[in-house]
Amino acid sequence: TGRIGIIAAMRDELSAVLNRMPDEHKTRVAGRSFWRGHWHGREVVAVLSRIGKVAAATTATALIERFEVDAIVFTGVAGGLADGVNVGDVVLARSFLQHDMNASPLFAQHEVPLYGKARFETDAALSDTLATAARKVLADPQAALGAAAVAEFGLQAPRVHEGLILSGDRFVATSAESGALRQRLPDGLAVEMEGAAVAQVCHDYGLPFVAMRTISDRADDAAHMDFTRFVEQVASHYSVAMLDAWLAQL
Ligand code: ADE
Repeated sequence: TGRIGIIAAMRDELSAVLNRMPDEHKTRVAGRSFWRGHWHGREVVAVLSRIGKVAAATTATALIERFEVDAIVFTGVAGGLADGVNVGDVVLARSFLQHDMNASPLFAQHEVPLYGKARFETDAALSDTLATAARKVLADPQAALGAAAVAEFGLQAPRVHEGLILSGDRFVATSAESGALRQRLPDGLAVEMEGAAVAQVCHDYGLPFVAMRTISDRADDAAHMDFTRFVEQVASHYSVAMLDAWLAQL
């Protein structure tokens, strides 16, 4: 692997990444700012995806076509779906599926037309090393976040889960909707709004893709904690610590 494209879903995460890039400089393409620089001596290009599948697909395509990255890593937050996937845990994606894709009766539900499949896999070897980095960080959340954030968000023994992540152009915020997703796609660990789009673009270009998501909510109607504070205090720190450990050993 040569040049790495880093797509962050949130502004706080991107800022945390840019703090690790001593020499970054900005190029504007497609209305977005792409930050080229180095991290652990490795060439990286960092960018904010914006929200939703189309925004993520545009971002990934520009990274590949204009910045000639050799692999893409996505970092962001997601809603936990499966039992035991709790706020403060991390989900390492092994595959992605668009839960709102449905061209039936022409194609099976969830199948992406003309691809002959619904699920797009992430790169196995790079995911193994990212999972190792994630486990290392979660083994000591205080080191990554500080004691105050660990206490504020009640992060007891956070875990790394690996498997299927669902993507769709909806923020899932009712128990009815997350319950329906759980029933329809029982192996879905978490739900977000971009990953499957980036996975499909990377599949089209034959590029390795990996993704990690910190669980910010349970995708239900429970009054959850301040999303902005969670991203600022928890998700962006996890994300940078994991990328740091991952890039160090690539
Ligand atoms: N990202 C974080 N939480 C989410 C949710 N509940 N639904 C969709 N995307 C999310």
